[in-house]
Amino acid sequence: MDIRDTVDLSWDEFDELRDPRPAENDFDRVVERAMSRRGFLGAVLAFGSGAAVFGSGLMSSTTAARAQAGSFKFAPIGIATDHEIHVPEGYRWKPLVKWGQALFSEAEGAYSAETGVPVEMSDKVFGENTDGMETFEADGHVLLAINSEYVNPKINLPADSEGMPKNAGEVAMLKNMQGVTVLEIAPQGESWEVVIDSPYNRRITHETQMVMDGPAAGSDLVRTNADPEGMNPKGTMNNCGSGKTLWGTYLTCEENFNGYFGTTGEMPQNEGIKRYGIGAEGRYAYEKFDARYDLSKEPNEPHRHGFVTEIDPADPDSTPVKHTALGRFKHENAEMVQAADGRIVVYMGDDERGEFMYRYVSNGTWAEGQPTDGLLSDGTLYVAKFNDDQTGEWLALTPETTGMALEEILVFSRMAGSKVGATTMDRPEWIAANPLKPEAYCALTNNKNRGLKPNAGGDETPVGGPNPREANNYGQIVRWQPAGGDHGADTFAWDLFVMAGNPEAGEGAYKGSENVTAGNMFNSPDGMAFSSDGMLWIQTDGDDSNEGEFAGMGNNQMLVGNPETGEIARFLTAPNGAEVTGLTWSPDGKTAFVGIQHPGGAWPDGAGKPRSAVIQVWREDGDVIG
Ligand code: FEO
Ligand code: CA
Ligand code: CA
Repeated sequence: MDIRDTVDLSWDEFDELRDPRPAENDFDRVVERAMSRRGFLGAVLAFGSGAAVFGSGLMSSTTAARAQAGSFKFAPIGIATDHEIHVPEGYRWKPLVKWGQALFSEAEGAYSAETGVPVEMSDKVFGENTDGMETFEADGHVLLAINSEYVNPKINLPADSEGMPKNAGEVAMLKNMQGVTVLEIAPQGESWEVVIDSPYNRRITHETQMVMDGPAAGSDLVRTNADPEGMNPKGTMNNCGSGKTLWGTYLTCEENFNGYFGTTGEMPQNEGIKRYGIGAEGRYAYEKFDARYDLSKEPNEPHRHGFVTEIDPADPDSTPVKHTALGRFKHENAEMVQAADGRIVVYMGDDERGEFMYRYVSNGTWAEGQPTDGLLSDGTLYVAKFNDDQTGEWLALTPETTGMALEEILVFSRMAGSKVGATTMDRPEWIAANPLKPEAYCALTNNKNRGLKPNAGGDETPVGGPNPREANNYGQIVRWQPAGGDHGADTFAWDLFVMAGNPEAGEGAYKGSENVTAGNMFNSPDGMAFSSDGMLWIQTDGDDSNEGEFAGMGNNQMLVGNPETGEIARFLTAPNGAEVTGLTWSPDGKTAFVGIQHPGGAWPDGAGKPRSAVIQVWREDGDVIG
């Protein structure tokens, strides 16, 4: 494969092309699974109201009418296929910050619609491909911490590069356009704007100096030539979803870190190479220009990425901390809640076909005003096991349960999960916890391999449980309620909040659940967050062709779900080509900040290059949004 052919692929497509899974060839087993799937669909029962119900074709008219008149403060909108943003009547939007926009006055005017940003200004502007983000307040200032997940080299590099860097300067440009941005915003009229030169403004990139903590820090697995102590890694990469600690710091989640490494010589031989999809050619050819990314020179460097990293936005001089105790995998986001006894609980998904859902529980407890030392470095990592009877349990990953040393469990968490028999999932993306009751939701975005191919560790991916659809192209949202209403409990009950589908064109499970209608169809749920009123906001990253089995779904979108009634209504549609990812609110709740990643066309400027951007959405009547 010529790496140059991959620059237009999504990360997921890139991984699949580079490391295809063996096809399942046991035809009888596939058929058997399809049969058990039908049995499961007939048996789904809700444990609460508002659950997905798999009914006959007579589902769309009544539920659609309920969504129109239901519990939402807005009139749901239709699909779109254009290159614009659409929001409901009575709402307005405009960009807050776009790729290449100056954070400091020295970079003002640096962005050009024809050539982008010069390399010397690339760490003084907003990065590309916005993703997870959170809002903070510090001494009366309002701050946003925002992930820039990856770069599109074709629009960042000179045209003659053909999408691959030719020299160290171009590598530096790509590195600088990714990572995390902290920026201050201030009210301006009815909306917000970036405060140029705020002392809080900061870029954190692939080169920023960090520290590691937790049981794997300093272990042989994470030592390199450049950092023989294994305590001081550089950089955070492929920053996907986010989280906010209860004590007001930012959690950035390192997802497809595997694609940044390659080799100019021999490939290292260790179990993690295959399971984590690390290949001989890095997506951006960093290994040709920087030994840190060259596996023949630094075989342990990939072991220092794929973590949840904590950043204090209120202190621009703070050193980010990589928390090994929360495990190493393709972290989507990190949703923090608290157990009844005060321990810290973090829910996390590993976004890969057939990988697992995780929970971390601290040993120590916390209350407002108390020290936070050790809360994210001293605890236990668990994986989820879902049973077909709608119960489930968290399985502890310990030396006793896995036969692995603790540092191996944390660096090779996927292998530890396999050892205890965790449930292989349909690509766990964001997890969101309901602020009004003890329950949490995980977007299982899609999994074309479900029931057909094992995961990279050879674990089977049978149809069943919360992954009930073979060759699942639409996705679903699972939710669970911990036993006794305590997120610290080791057992839970689960159901499906929604199975995306096409009630008009789909057959059987492909119709979707009863709360999917002709008026709210979507595929591939991904980003999720709860507003303070207990509504679940759902963002999509799926097929926006509006053709074939995706006809009637239009561009990627943001919907709102009511956990109590199960109703789902479309709130926003993105420009064609974009996914919607990242959502946070202003402190007064009157503005929603929404990420628009990899737009097509020339959005939002109308000419020149497409620019990923965070937009702001507010109500014309000035009320809180939602
Ligand atoms: Fe970066 Fe799984 O989304
Ligand atoms: Ca995502
Ligand atoms: Ca996705």
